[in-house]
Amino acid sequence: MYMLFILLLITCFNGALGDYATVATACRGELESSLPTINSQDEQQFLNKLINKYKIVDSVWLDAGVKDKHIVWTDSTSADYENWIPGRQINNSNCVEMVTDQAHIGQWLDEPCNKKNAYLCKRVVMWSGQRTERLIRDNRRVLDNYMKHTTILLNSAIAIIEHLLVAQQDTDAKIALLEQTKVPIGFIYTQLPDQADPKTLWPTYTWSDVTATYAGQFFRAEGSGSLAFGKGVQAENSPRLSNVHYESTVDYAKDITLIPGEWSKYIYSGSEITGATDYFLKFWMTGGEVRPRNQAVRIFRRVK
Ligand SMILES: *[C@@H]1O[C@H](CO)[C@@H](O)[C@H](O)[C@H]1NC(C)=O
Repeated sequence: MYMLFILLLITCFNGALGDYATVATACRGELESSLPTINSQDEQQFLNKLINKYKIVDSVWLDAGVKDKHIVWTDSTSADYENWIPGRQINNSNCVEMVTDQAHIGQWLDEPCNKKNAYLCKRVVMWSGQRTERLIRDNRRVLDNYMKHTTILLNSAIAIIEHLLVAQQDTDAKIALLEQTKVPIGFIYTQLPDQADPKTLWPTYTWSDVTATYAGQFFRAEGSGSLAFGKGVQAENSPRLSNVHYESTVDYAKDITLIPGEWSKYIYSGSEITGATDYFLKFWMTGGEVRPRNQAVRIFRRVK
């Protein structure tokens, strides 16, 4: 089972401001979300676009503190990416905000935690390939819930979701690719000698060894002399003499060859003592398959 994560941002533009603790608590409590975290240039640029598009003028608290003059994200994610305004002393006792003025758009600044900043909360949505409509529906519910507690420009929030849906088309394409390449439940894997066990190839799946169901049986492609598909196990067979027939006074041969699936020619077998009648035999050789050379295989079925 795979999961992809979509970052969903919900902003409050009504001019409400709060210190770090207040805004962090508001984000966590009401929205099951948190203040923004930024772990890459891409995420930073995405936030910068939001600042521009929705004309956010106040600085925004990030979900982080400072240690040894470096960012420490509250969710313990990587601090490899940093975007501080250059040339400033970083105070380990401060909180971290993202500034919104054009000169330093999106860059980080440490400020006393009791400074009042704008509300900007992010919500991480687990996305497992459901329809887009469902995402919108779920988030309208979240927005409605949010509106009970604070004033929000609903249209702006919806616009942000729509903006994200564009980014999601790319994600949907990736999901489609995953759907094509994943192994479905019920998939049958035939392990040939010297080839990998399916538990090695797909360690996250659960495989059941169903070999015993087919113990000792051969498989042949449908058609030709094969029993029809699903009609059970074909009886074993090989060419053998199965019928003999006698007749009197027929054309006959001195030498005969037994051909599978055909009556042979007659061959002389003797006559009555009186010499009045001669008797002849013919033979039936069954048709059948030649037993193949073979190796045992193992058959697995994905069950979970
Ligand atoms: C560092 O930040 C703390 C808390 O905001 C403040 O009390 C202190 O004065 C600051 N120190 C410096 C050197 O700016």
